[in-house]
Amino acid sequence: MDEKSPAFDARAFRRALGHFATGVAVVTARAGETDEVVGMTMSSFNSVSLDPPLVLFSVARSAHSLPAMLAARGYGVNVLARDQEHLSNRFARALEDKWAGVAHTAGVEDAPLLSGAIAHFECVPYAHHDGGDHVIFLARVVRFAHSEEAEPLVFFRGAYHGVVAS
Ligand SMILES: Cc1cc2nc3c(=O)[nH]c(=O)nc-3n(C[C@H](O)[C@H](O)[C@H](O)COP(=O)(O)O)c2cc1C
Repeated sequence: MDEKSPAFDARAFRRALGHFATGVAVVTARAGETDEVVGMTMSSFNSVSLDPPLVLFSVARSAHSLPAMLAARGYGVNVLARDQEHLSNRFARALEDKWAGVAHTAGVEDAPLLSGAIAHFECVPYAHHDGGDHVIFLARVVRFAHSEEAEPLVFFRGAYHGVVAS
């Protein structure tokens, strides 16, 4: 289906994109001036560069957390475990207090690191780019950690899955 055709259907486009299975991350930040602490569920997280060590994620221009993410001097990328579906759901909503009862420690620039995540990447801003109705964030990784025995949470065709080892 081509973009200019009247038949281009945004819902069908989303459905087709959903066939690309991804992990699920919660990206967090503490915005300097307001001290607001934000966290967003994201499937757009990906690796970019080894030297320098860069990752990316894209944030909807409509997201409540976008101004805080743009103002932040550090981000925490938390790769969720199979048993953290509840955290994915919690951080995918515009809640008053997303953080109530969520165990975490402080990462770079006080960006929260969620306990139980299978990997953490602590990042600082590198660049922002126009991404249509999203803003693409490139971030430089300053510290990272991962667990050896870890089952990831997977998002595929709009639903959560685990990985079945073959
Ligand atoms: C599995 C999953 C993946 C998501 N990926 C993204 C993403 O990559 N970028 C984005 O802006 N929103 C994404 N969202 C939606 C945001 O998590 C959601 O809009 C959230 O409410 C944003 O936080 P905010 O309301 O504090 O801005 C995703 C939601 C889910 C459930």
